[in-house]
Amino acid sequence: MATLNFLTGNSGKLAEAQNLFGPHGWEIQAFKINGEVPDVIEPQSDNLTTVALAKIAQAVELLAAENRLGESLLVEDSGLFIEALPEFPGVYSAHVLQSIGCDGILRLLDDERAAHFLTVAALWTGEVVEVFIGRCDGRISPEIKGDDGFGYDPIFIPDESQDGRTFAEMTKEEKSTYSHRGKALRALSDYLNENGA
Ligand code: IMP
Repeated sequence: MATLNFLTGNSGKLAEAQNLFGPHGWEIQAFKINGEVPDVIEPQSDNLTTVALAKIAQAVELLAAENRLGESLLVEDSGLFIEALPEFPGVYSAHVLQSIGCDGILRLLDDERAAHFLTVAALWTGEVVEVFIGRCDGRISPEIKGDDGFGYDPIFIPDESQDGRTFAEMTKEEKSTYSHRGKALRALSDYLNENGA
């Protein structure tokens, strides 16, 4: 089974990627150095692609320092974008979740609840960097619902599911069908299959 390193400290993201790639013959493993997920610096930018590219550049340097440059490596950056709150939380999604939480987001909103998630996944193939983007349109739920998933999952309802459930009320497989990350990683998986990586 081929192995793909994933630089993330988020166990929810790792589990989703493992679930999605497992059936396609890829083992997704957390990228670690001396048993630790290495820290990379997130640049100040209002653009997820800029952030993902800055992270993959640092991650490739780390691979090189470990004499593992031929291995493939994935980083991804995601954000929630709420139409009524332009660019918010956007690239600040992690910070906003930590500071005001899902409850805080609900308190900020009235009737206008449209939102979308974006994922930018940057893959080092062992030779070049390829970028894959996934978007999921939906809305912010009036209340926190569901116990699964992570982050903003209990308040995000994807349009495509058409049944009003939040991501946190879905299995990983269901969430992946609709989610920003599922879409970006399926495009990445197609690329790996087509390029015989
Ligand atoms: P980052 O990509 O790790 O920077 O994610 C930014 C923030 O968005 C973190 O707080 C994540 O928990 C949250 N987030 C990222 N992806 C998802 C998702 O699929 N569902 C819910 N929250 C997410």
